[in-house]
Parts: sequence; C-alpha cells; structure tokens
Amino acid sequence: LEGILGRGTIDRRRLTMNTITDHILSRRSVRSFSNEQIRDEDLDLILKAAILAPNGMNQEPWHFTAIQDPKTLRELDEKVAGPGESFFYHAPTLILVSIEIGNAFEKEDTACAMTNMMQAAHALGLGSVWCNRINHNPKLGVQLSSYGVPEGYKVTGTLAVGYPKGDYPSPRVPKQGTITYIRS
Ligand SMILES: Cc1cc2nc3c(=O)[nH]c(=O)nc-3n(C[C@H](O)[C@H](O)[C@H](O)COP(=O)(O)O)c2cc1C
Repeated sequence: LEGILGRGTIDRRRLTMNTITDHILSRRSVRSFSNEQIRDEDLDLILKAAILAPNGMNQEPWHFTAIQDPKTLRELDEKVAGPGESFFYHAPTLILVSIEIGNAFEKEDTACAMTNMMQAAHALGLGSVWCNRINHNPKLGVQLSSYGVPEGYKVTGTLAVGYPKGDYPSPRVPKQGTITYIRS
C-alpha cells in the first residue's frame, strides 16, 4: 500500500479496518450459485480463516472437510435433502465443520469458524450460506466418516460456498432495539 499511496499520506490501519468492516456489514447469505468451482487458493484461504478462528481455551477441537467432488457432494446432499433435492443450493463446494464429541465449546467454536469462513469467502468475492441440517440430525451427524469426518467427531456446521449467481443480496436491514448503550 505504501508503494501505491505514498508513505505517511494515509492511516493504513484505518484503511484496512474500513475494508474489513465494509465486508462485515455487507455480507449476506447467498443461496444461488454458479457451477464454476472456486479456486484452490481461495478455498485454502477460507480454511485458513477457519483454523485461525478464536476457540475456547485454544483446544482447536475441530476438523474441516472440504467436499468438491460433484458425485460425493450430490450423494451427501441427497442423503440430507432427499432424492433429487438439494439442501445445499447446488453449491460447488461444501465445508463440513466437525468437533470432537463432548467438547464444551462445540457451538461457540463452530460459530467462530463459520463466521470467519463466511467473511473470508465474502472478501474473496464468493458467496456462502450456513446450512444447518446435518447437525440437526444426530444420527447423520456422526455417521459421516466416509466424508472425512474423523472418528469421535460430529458435524456441527456446514457451509455451502461458490460464486454467487445473479445479484449479490443487498445489505440486511437489522431488527431495531437490539443495542443498549450505558455511558456516563
Ligand atoms: C446457526 C445458523 C443456521 C442456519 N441455517 C440455515 C439453513 O439451514 N439454510 C439456510 O438457507 N440458511 C441458514 N442460515 C442462514 C440464515 O438464514 C441467515 O444468516 C439469516 O437469515 C440472516 O441473513 P444474512 O445471513 O443474509 O444476513 C443459518 C444461519 C445460522 C447462523
């Protein structure tokens, strides 16, 4: 940045922060994807964002499985949604988050990793949506060793990722009255 903008002409920290907050404020769930597969380097960055997410007591009790093989993905999708149906919006990439069974922070750690991945995907111009059916089906959630989920882990979050098809959704209008300030 210094090379482009010149040294001292700009508060670099603020510029970076603005970019990050812009992404946070404009991210939406995307539910329509083009068939084009995402780039390997983008997937790696998304997964890096996942493994570097904050987590309870830094136990890193998680595992991430990126499914990109169309046949495997369709097979899993039909297991979840039923024959001919899609619960994952036909996204070309699906990332399963699994957590060691019995870990006290499973929900919190899952949410941190999922949020980091959604933000990273958005920053890369990709769309994503958290799809929550596998973990709502306890039987299915722990029977996924053939999909890269390690023994003793259960799926706690699933992220569909791809290039958005059509317009990116407009920023959400949040519910009012959800913030309290206590100031002197
Ligand atoms: C825990 C959780 C579970 C979700 N499960 C689903 C899901 O199964 N299918 C889906 O289409 N969206 C799912 N979503 C996405 C939410 O519907 C979405 O985040 C919410 O409507 C707000 O919209 P936005 O993400 O575009 O801001 C889930 C989100 C969270 C955080």
